[in-house]
Amino acid sequence: MKVLVVGTGYVGLVTGVCLASFGHDVVCVDQDWQKIARLNMGECPIYEDGLEPLLREQLLANRLSFDTAISDSTDCDIALIAVGTPPRNDGSADLASVFEVVSELGHKLKQGAFIGTKSTVPVGTAHSIETFLESMGRQDIRVVSIPEFLREGSALSDTLQPSRLIFGVPDEESLRVLEELHRPLEVPVVACNRATAEMIKYASNAFLATKISFINEIANICERVGADVQQVSQGMGLDPRIGSSFLRAGLGYGGSCFPKDTRALVNIAGDVAYDFKLLKAVVEVNQRQRTEPIRRLRQWFGDLSHIRVTLLGVAFKPGTNDIRESPALEIGERLRSQGAQVQFYDPVVTRFQLQSQEFVRVLDDPYMALEHADAAIIVTEWPEIVDLDWARVGAVMRRRLVFDGRNVLDPAALEEAGFLIENFGFHPALLLASARDSAVQA
Ligand code: UDX
Repeated sequence: MKVLVVGTGYVGLVTGVCLASFGHDVVCVDQDWQKIARLNMGECPIYEDGLEPLLREQLLANRLSFDTAISDSTDCDIALIAVGTPPRNDGSADLASVFEVVSELGHKLKQGAFIGTKSTVPVGTAHSIETFLESMGRQDIRVVSIPEFLREGSALSDTLQPSRLIFGVPDEESLRVLEELHRPLEVPVVACNRATAEMIKYASNAFLATKISFINEIANICERVGADVQQVSQGMGLDPRIGSSFLRAGLGYGGSCFPKDTRALVNIAGDVAYDFKLLKAVVEVNQRQRTEPIRRLRQWFGDLSHIRVTLLGVAFKPGTNDIRESPALEIGERLRSQGAQVQFYDPVVTRFQLQSQEFVRVLDDPYMALEHADAAIIVTEWPEIVDLDWARVGAVMRRRLVFDGRNVLDPAALEEAGFLIENFGFHPALLLASARDSAVQA
């Protein structure tokens, strides 16, 4: 099939490269000419394992190309829209770019072509696109919804071996087209109407975010009653009805999807006069969770204006250089506004990515970033951070105090290196004491 992908962000680029690898002829379009120039040279603008080699392979095989505009003579069978849907101030998704693209496609697509939405769009968008196309006299174009569930850091495997495919279609023929587009994939397919497909995307992300906020609330209670949230997660997760994933307590979720999609779904519900109380609480808990280190620092130091804090990790999670909605930036900004000196270390995020944030000093050497610090906060659980030489860290810091915002360090090893460590959802001192007791008894 001939496929046009509009937007070469995470979703668009990975989708385009993978569809080319299925044997389709793919053209990816983006207004950002610098990005397109790099892509045409086989350079991948995002940090994603395995993507660049596959991109180069598809370029060489002439199945994939990049352009800065949709060609007037495009003869694609299906155009996939993967442009941004940024949140407006009220949390609702801004669809301006989506409709700009639809308008252009309405003028350029051949008779009987399909349009598929890949961007996460409010429920009802496929229908609105159809109405818009009808107003342009393009009743012949069919609109389908194909939501995307890829995670950053494992985007390729999520696209090449997805857990499921969701096809939101208006009729049987559209379903056949989507089956043809995804032919090599042998995975469960949920064929449904378009509003259902759009809702599956939001509901999935909202549910995962709910699991995270739930375990973070449990963690906060665990701390107060002397329980260990990690064992609680383990004990809960073994129940197959609950499942073990997304039960890691800590600083909460960030990234380009969960924060945006949870707020958008609260809005979608509000638009139909439904108060989505549970999801509002999920958002609020996440917000509180990410500022928890500030509360703890104040408990330790009172006034923060004389302290130096090092944030370890800037990316919103390991395996990506994406800093969108990263807790590190918010924590850093709040610390700075309270007068603290803040330094960052991240193995892949560069200082250029943070140019707009004047206060930020990102260092590529963790030990330099930690020099003379009064406290360190683990924000992102990169292996490069977990595996630091903590004895060496202890030698460069002014005070040996670590807030393990992802519960990834070995409290015993840190204690041995002379650190005080604060976790989220358990007290290492209690655990160490009980481990010692049982060792003595044994
Ligand atoms: C997510 C969804 O998983 C994906 O299906 C969707 O298409 C896009 O949004 P992504 O944002 O790449 O993917 O990251 P994910 O790995 O899901 O993690 C999201 C956030 O949750 C991260 O900030 C992570 O640190 C946090 N998280 C995850 C927790 O705090 N605890 C957990 O147990 C799991």
